[in-house]
Amino acid sequence: MASLTAGHRHTGNMAVQINPSILSADFARLAEEARAVEGADWLHVDVMDNHFVPNLTIGVPVVESLSRATETPLDCHLMIEDPDRWAPAYIEAGAGSVTFHVEAAAAPVRLAREIRAKGARASMALKPATPIEPYEDLLPELDMLLIMTVEPGFGGQAFLDIMLPKIRRARRLIDQHGLQLWLQVDGGVSASTIERCAEAGADVFVAGSAVYGAEDPAEAVRGLRKQAAAACAH
Ligand code: DX5
Ligand code: ZN
Repeated sequence: MASLTAGHRHTGNMAVQINPSILSADFARLAEEARAVEGADWLHVDVMDNHFVPNLTIGVPVVESLSRATETPLDCHLMIEDPDRWAPAYIEAGAGSVTFHVEAAAAPVRLAREIRAKGARASMALKPATPIEPYEDLLPELDMLLIMTVEPGFGGQAFLDIMLPKIRRARRLIDQHGLQLWLQVDGGVSASTIERCAEAGADVFVAGSAVYGAEDPAEAVRGLRKQAAAACAH
């Protein structure tokens, strides 16, 4: 699996990755908050523009500073309109992985190819009401598929169980095509939901409030990893 980055751990044939979302961190102390989850595979950075979602977070300058402040690679989740225009700047700012929403992209294939050509991992996200089936033929263009398990926009929302069948269908398509792409879940992932996600076939887990709301964020990452690895081994 040459396409995997350092930091992943294999469990059976599945590599579990835990990506804490800094949306639930203290934005005034981002460098420290990044260090508080050492051992995490990626830092998940939620970029929101007040248009694609009803919330406004951070943009290119913060990603640039954060990438200098931590060794952990940045997984930038763009919840913005016109990702075709803005995604390249996040790669230049230091993102190792860039996720765009298919609902917002004008030309997802061209965009995925551009992200890869600029040296980052290309990832595509689906909101809860967006089905996976129309995008089956696009999967080889991607390094990761993100299935949202809440409506994007805010941390701390309840996990949507109704997304589990979509995770299973996505895993089946990935395996049928013999692809290496990672399957990420984001939203409401916690000690009480991560096992269901892993059993359904997810292998990359974003967790915001479950990590930064914990007394010891690094310990929360270790706990989530252990649970997911055990569930994947089934
Ligand atoms: C929501 C964001 C998530 C958010 C997850 O739109 O994409 O990454 O930070 O937060 P939790 O884990 O608290 O649901
Ligand atoms: Zn996110």
